[in-house]
Amino acid sequence: MKIAVYGANGYQGKLVLAELARRGMEMVLIGRSRERLSAAASQVGVADAEIRIADADCSHALASVDALINCAGPYTVSGQAVARAAITAGCQYVDLSGEQLYVKEFFDDLGPDAERAGVALVPMMTESGAIDDLLAALLAARLQPAEIALAHKNLNTGGLSRGSARSALKTIDFLRTGGLAYEDGKWRTDAPALRKSVTFLGGEDVPVVKFAMPAVVTIPRHVDVQRVQGLLDAETGERVTAAALSEELIEAMPEGPSEEDRRAQRFTIVVDATADDGSSVQATATGNDAYRTPAVMAVEAARRLIADPPKPGVLAPAQAFSPADFLDFLGRNGLTWAIAGWEAR
Ligand SMILES: NC(=O)c1ccc[n+]([C@@H]2O[C@H](COP(=O)([O-])OP(=O)(O)OC[C@H]3O[C@@H](n4cnc5c(N)ncnc54)[C@H](OP(=O)(O)O)[C@@H]3O)[C@@H](O)[C@H]2O)c1
Repeated sequence: MKIAVYGANGYQGKLVLAELARRGMEMVLIGRSRERLSAAASQVGVADAEIRIADADCSHALASVDALINCAGPYTVSGQAVARAAITAGCQYVDLSGEQLYVKEFFDDLGPDAERAGVALVPMMTESGAIDDLLAALLAARLQPAEIALAHKNLNTGGLSRGSARSALKTIDFLRTGGLAYEDGKWRTDAPALRKSVTFLGGEDVPVVKFAMPAVVTIPRHVDVQRVQGLLDAETGERVTAAALSEELIEAMPEGPSEEDRRAQRFTIVVDATADDGSSVQATATGNDAYRTPAVMAVEAARRLIADPPKPGVLAPAQAFSPADFLDFLGRNGLTWAIAGWEAR
């Protein structure tokens, strides 16, 4: 099983390499600069790993690769080119995108080509996207939802990586709209927020704002539901949308949070599904380290796509993997999750 990492020398790419090394998996590092890739390999302790040089259009570098994990961001710039390379080369594909519009266009633009090529592409394998998608699928198996609200609260000690900040800068005008909400088959940026506050774990009632959570665009692909909307704690939401980001400021930032700061990061998720008659079920998840967690998720996703290939096409996480089984795997790797009245195995 050979897994390639595109953008392997980035902050997130190195965490994916470290996770592949921890699991003893064979890896290929791909990117634009041999010097930067070699330095990353040495830094992670995989100096002997194979290196291949390629631009985003990297199909020629994917010979004998079983799955590609794309870590190069902003995804809005190069994501589709890397994904098309995986389709051309006939290898499975995973990425760690969090940009809502990118994820929507990824499904719209690449689905038929992926199906024809017989490969599975799963974007959004991050704590900010895939966990919502998997939890929503489990809730929908318990109740026919009319509405699903995805609420996140982040304690982002140490701040963002440069790549995350660049992704926010590229889509800042869209983020300021609160992003797409799904309503009766339509995508709206002008929908009012479904909630003013959300009670997170520990009973804390926290003000929230509408936010461009990526799973808003994947959940209606596999759940029959009228409304889906993303919400973020108002403090983080306002910090992101009011940030005076510029390329110069981002260049001056550290590459990303220190390991100690990452350990102190905490994300809390509440997914609420409500039926037409007002009955509801709720799922919660909490974890730390908003950078290592996506690395763990992406590597496991790539491994599963190779070991147990789903139907080909662009797939939401819940379409590619058994939701409870994947969440149980994360449960053994630092995530705590539960559905009210139904404990995780
Ligand atoms: N929880 C989340 O949702 C989450 C968490 C972490 C990261 N992410 C996403 O992951 C992405 C990467 O973040 P990061 O912090 O790792 O960024 P980073 O440290 O700046 O690294 C970016 C990587 O992408 C490559 N790259 C950038 N633009 C490219 C292009 N046009 N063509 C080919 N390669 C290109 C860079 O290669 P060069 O060295 O050749 O420039 C580098 O390897 C971001 O989009 C971020 O939003 C999401």
